[in-house]
Amino acid sequence: MTTVNFTEMKNGSKEDYLLLDEYEQKYIDGTADRILKFLGGLNSTLEGYKITRLEHSLQAATRALNDKASEEMVVATLLHDIGDELAPLNHSEYAAAVLKPFVSGRTHWIIEKHGEFQMYYFAHHLGGNRNQRDKYKDHKYYVDAVNFCENWDQASFDPRSRQCFYHQTKSPYLSGCLSVILPALI
Ligand SMILES: [Fe+2]
Ligand SMILES: [Fe+2]
Repeated sequence: MTTVNFTEMKNGSKEDYLLLDEYEQKYIDGTADRILKFLGGLNSTLEGYKITRLEHSLQAATRALNDKASEEMVVATLLHDIGDELAPLNHSEYAAAVLKPFVSGRTHWIIEKHGEFQMYYFAHHLGGNRNQRDKYKDHKYYVDAVNFCENWDQASFDPRSRQCFYHQTKSPYLSGCLSVILPALI
């Protein structure tokens, strides 16, 4: 592999940076594959649930798919918890940052805020404020985020649905949009 001549960036030439740019474009093209590979590894995180994070992600995305959500939203739902492994304290922002170059402002906002909206279902059991989402009540995507959590996210922890959802995720639609849409939007 050809490499640059510099050891400090300030000494790099135009040719060096053109070379790096070429490599970077190829690397960007592989983003979707890397994300999917990472998602596939979410099989051993967050103990205590009846299903793994990967299964939860597949269930939530399949619910979005069945509700005729846009392809973008189905993919975003599939990836909404990818921050769990490396950013457990702000996993929503992590996932939103990964998605940001590829999705609409609406989708980005829903994914970025879903952690706070999910608090509605459990925070009061832990002495927290389940209504933290209320501070966004006047936001144009507030209802969309409520619906994301109610219909897809909080509802997708059911081990009895495993077979059904695995079958669904083998559909050409979902696998196709995963492998095609992200690179196409770069
Ligand atoms: Fe989440
Ligand atoms: Fe989730």
